[in-house]
Amino acid sequence: MTDLTHAFSDDLAATLTRAFDLLARAAADRRSPMHTPSVASIGLDGAPRSRTVVLRHFDRGERCLRFHTDIRSEKYAELTSDPRISTLFYDADKKVQLRLSGMASLHVTDEIADGAWAASQAMSRHCYATEPAPGSAIMEGGAFSIPKGRDLTEVGRPHFCAVRIKFSKLEWLWLGSDGHRRALFEWDNAASTPVMRWLVP
Ligand SMILES: Cc1cc2nc3c(=O)[nH]c(=O)nc-3n(C[C@H](O)[C@H](O)[C@H](O)COP(=O)(O)O)c2cc1C
Repeated sequence: MTDLTHAFSDDLAATLTRAFDLLARAAADRRSPMHTPSVASIGLDGAPRSRTVVLRHFDRGERCLRFHTDIRSEKYAELTSDPRISTLFYDADKKVQLRLSGMASLHVTDEIADGAWAASQAMSRHCYATEPAPGSAIMEGGAFSIPKGRDLTEVGRPHFCAVRIKFSKLEWLWLGSDGHRRALFEWDNAASTPVMRWLVP
C-alpha cells in the first residue's frame, strides 16, 4: 500500500520535483546529507574511480551540478580524457538515493571559473595552493605545504577548476516504509521535459 503521507510517492512529476528540491537543498545547506555526493569517472586505465566532493551549486533550469577541484588531480585528467560522469547522493533520514549521470565540462580560465573562485572562501582557496600536487607520493604523511594567509588567497587560482555536470539521466530510489519506489527520468539533449517511467526497485 502507498504511503499517503508522501505526495510524491505515486506521482512521477511530483517525484522529480522532490528530487530537484533535495538537490537544491544539498547545494545550499552544508548540513544536508546530500551536500557531499560521490562522483564517479572513468580512470585512465578504463577502471571506475569514485570520490567524495562538495556540491557547490545546482541549477534546476539548466539541469547542472557544480563542484570544484584541482587541475592537478587525477579526476581532472580523467574527465579531460572522458567527460562521462555519474553522481550518487543518499539521504538516510529521507531514505532517498539519487543517481545522476551526464557529461562534465571543465572550467579553468573562463567566467564560470572566475565566478566560482570569487565566491569561494579563503579556507577553500588555500587548498589549491598545496605543494607538491595532490596525489604526489611523499616520504612522510605531513611532507607537503599549504601556503596560508590573507595575502596568499590567490596563489592557488591557476590550479582551480569548476566542474559542471549536465545530467541527462536521474534515477530516484525511495525506500518508503509501505513499499519502495524507483523512477527513471531521461532527457533528450534538446527536450526540457524528460521521459519519465517507474522501475521495479
Ligand atoms: C567530505 C569530503 C569532501 C571533499 N570535497 C572535495 C571537493 O569538493 N573537490 C575535490 O576535488 N576533492 C574533494 N574531496 C577529496 C576527494 O574525495 C579525493 O580524495 C581527492 O579529490 C582526490 O581524488 P582524485 O584522485 O580522484 O582526483 C573531498 C573529500 C571529502 C571526504
